[in-house]
Amino acid sequence: MTNTGVQFFSGKNIPLEMHKVKMVQKINLLPVEERLKAIQEAGGNSFLLKNRDVFLDMLTDSGTNAMSDKQYGAMMVADDSYAGSETFYKLEKTLTRIFGTQFFLPTHQGRACENILAHAFVKPGSTAITNYHFTTTMAHVTRLGGKMIELIKKEGLETTSTDKFKGDYDLDLLEETIDSIGPDNISFVRIEAGTNLIGGQPVSLENMEAVSNLCRSKGVLLVFDASLLADNLFFIKTRDEKFKDWSIEEISRKIASLMDITYFSARKLGCARGGGICTSSPELFEAMRELIPLFEGFLTYGGMSVREMEALNVGLDETMDLDVISQTPIFVEALGNELLKANIPLVTPFGGLGCHIDAKKFLPHIAQENYPAAALVTAIFIVSGIRSMERGTMSEQRNEDGSEHLASMELVRLAVPKRVFTLSHILFAADRISWLFENRDLIGGMEFTDEPKTLRFFLGKLAPIGDWQEKLLAKFLEDMPSGL
Ligand SMILES: Cc1ncc(COP(=O)(O)O)c(C=O)c1O
Repeated sequence: MTNTGVQFFSGKNIPLEMHKVKMVQKINLLPVEERLKAIQEAGGNSFLLKNRDVFLDMLTDSGTNAMSDKQYGAMMVADDSYAGSETFYKLEKTLTRIFGTQFFLPTHQGRACENILAHAFVKPGSTAITNYHFTTTMAHVTRLGGKMIELIKKEGLETTSTDKFKGDYDLDLLEETIDSIGPDNISFVRIEAGTNLIGGQPVSLENMEAVSNLCRSKGVLLVFDASLLADNLFFIKTRDEKFKDWSIEEISRKIASLMDITYFSARKLGCARGGGICTSSPELFEAMRELIPLFEGFLTYGGMSVREMEALNVGLDETMDLDVISQTPIFVEALGNELLKANIPLVTPFGGLGCHIDAKKFLPHIAQENYPAAALVTAIFIVSGIRSMERGTMSEQRNEDGSEHLASMELVRLAVPKRVFTLSHILFAADRISWLFENRDLIGGMEFTDEPKTLRFFLGKLAPIGDWQEKLLAKFLEDMPSGL
């Protein structure tokens, strides 16, 4: 039986698309020599590749999820106005239904919410606590003089585990930490749904409830990053017996009722572009409200186009449909199962968002200082035209003294944006990465040639150490003479 309940006579677990294709986009698979040239011109950084050189864009699901016919249709009826747009009130009402919250502050994307939260609540010297950090969240907190500490339970950092909710907090440690820092010195406690940097791992509803009770008893603000909520909702419904009979909307409302503030990137949640902050507290709303016109735009659009707000409104509604939110997790699982057949080390259980390769185990001969995950990203691109994302040491910030901060996990993420790829794309990805695994000894390390101070993974450039990329290309041509 598949995760969505459909049973195949063959007994196979095949991810089944619960949608049909109505519009397509041509993609190009360049010959391997041109792929090598493209990644070298991009400074070994997949963010700097041109999309026309990419075959399968597995960088992220941010703003790249497929939209539905109903979302596109809704864009046509958007109410264009600077202030008081009907579209805003429609979206506000939907968020109230889904999260049960009273107030909604729109923003242009997820990190914009983090900027507002940081300006409203982070004071120099204060601490933000999180299950695990996200790159932009950490950058906004530290930029304003705060620090961020991570209190994920130990299973969260074990790449292979049988734990179904690896995004959970270590509750004892959370209580001890709140007590030792003191509630007044804590800007907020943050829960990130579908914990991104540890492999899209979900947080259980019980853990959220326990964190909420603790924060309420200690008088600490609790903030929820719901950007990856869709996958997390799917996992709560399908992995936790207690909630199997709850509707997705009931689970959403329950979660949001535990939080003081819920924010999200609508590039992820709701398959549109934009973001927003929801709360039921008039005081918290007041504390953030004036920052919206300052940083984002007027209170009824917050930097979003009204067309995107209409698309988001429908997308949020569609997120309450199990068939819709099942699509990424079941395709991630299909990709993961294929890769496991070739013994490729992965983060397990599979999370949402994408399949995560453990680059430390894939490339044990490359020291973390030489960015194994970044090296693997470039190697994957050379052999397949697939754009993946480094989520390891290159994505970390250096320590204050300038020394390298080695990531606790060196991951390569193969994102599976919602409803974008077919099963044959997934099989192609698995085939090429399996070839690469057989030839992994050819892969070498990387070094920075241009290293920005902030969020260096976005714009930084790296060069391979030695000529391993040319050797990889030569071996690929030996085995795949077409070069494709
Ligand atoms: C968990 C999480 N929070 C925040 C963000 C930031 O959102 P945005 O890219 O819309 O700025 C992201 C984006 O990937 C994310 O995954």
